[in-house]
Amino acid sequence: MMAGVSTHITTTRRLEGKVALITGGASGIGKATAKLFAQHGARVVIADIQDELGFALCNEIGGSSICSYVHCDVTDESAVKHAIDTTIGSYGKLDIMVNNAGTVGSPEIKIIESDKDNFEKVMSVNVTGCYLGTKHAARVMVPAQCGSIISMASVASVDPCATPVAYTCSKHAILGIMRSAAIELGQFGIRVNCVSPYALGTPLSAKGFGMSEEEVDNIMEEHAVLRGVRLKADDVAEAVMYLASDESRYISGLNLLVDGAFSVGNLSHGFFKYAQ
Ligand SMILES: NC(=O)c1ccc[n+]([C@@H]2O[C@H](COP(=O)([O-])OP(=O)(O)OC[C@H]3O[C@@H](n4cnc5c(N)ncnc54)[C@H](O)[C@@H]3O)[C@@H](O)[C@H]2O)c1
Repeated sequence: MMAGVSTHITTTRRLEGKVALITGGASGIGKATAKLFAQHGARVVIADIQDELGFALCNEIGGSSICSYVHCDVTDESAVKHAIDTTIGSYGKLDIMVNNAGTVGSPEIKIIESDKDNFEKVMSVNVTGCYLGTKHAARVMVPAQCGSIISMASVASVDPCATPVAYTCSKHAILGIMRSAAIELGQFGIRVNCVSPYALGTPLSAKGFGMSEEEVDNIMEEHAVLRGVRLKADDVAEAVMYLASDESRYISGLNLLVDGAFSVGNLSHGFFKYAQ
């Protein structure tokens, strides 16, 4: 070996041999994550309530030796427990848990126009779902003394940028679950992190904004800080893969913002206009 030559081996399959469970994996960011994980050598279980989309995605990814689908409503503890146990039954272990399932609920931004039932529904899917996924992943990761748990928060977890109160609240709460679990589970070698994307066109955001996915992308590009690049589900999946892979082996307790600096400052002061 020549002096100065690195012995570090890079691999193009960054999740080789790992097993992942992705809630809300049948669509949008979860779907992009499932595909990327499989490309990088992981075996993937997709847990969702959209069975047709979930099964179709599994076939697209490559069949049961690589990918399986399990029906799982993340608000139901027995269903989440079943999804984790199915993953262990099918592939022998769980290395990566992605708590991605989410809902935006009804689109009213104003608290005085908001509805309590909707608030509780959003909290149930986004917060209880994340709590149950973290709890049951930890149940099987603690004996294994390793694992990576990643929860999908949002830029709304740090900046309530005109998202409905229930959604904003739920995404702040996801940070609480992540931070609490990161401290508790660190002693077992388990890492816990969040990914917080800026908005991009998916069925969830299209519903939230009351427009098409393309219109969401156009509007978000218009309001973005970072120019010349449009956020895609694949970009978010890359951030999730980083936290899932051994490349982030000392990173825990992080809320990884994929927002092109949107949440860094308050744009309403308008100073940025003078910098153009
Ligand atoms: N799209 C955005 O602009 C954006 C921005 C920041 C964060 N996020 C977050 O990303 C995550 C994925 O959303 P997306 O934008 O890809 O939307 P999406 O609608 O494409 O995907 C959400 C998935 O969650 C599933 N789901 C909903 N309720 C469920 C339940 N009770 N049990 C199991 N699965 C359920 C849906 O069936 C769907 O497949 C969500 O947590 C969302 O809050 C999205």
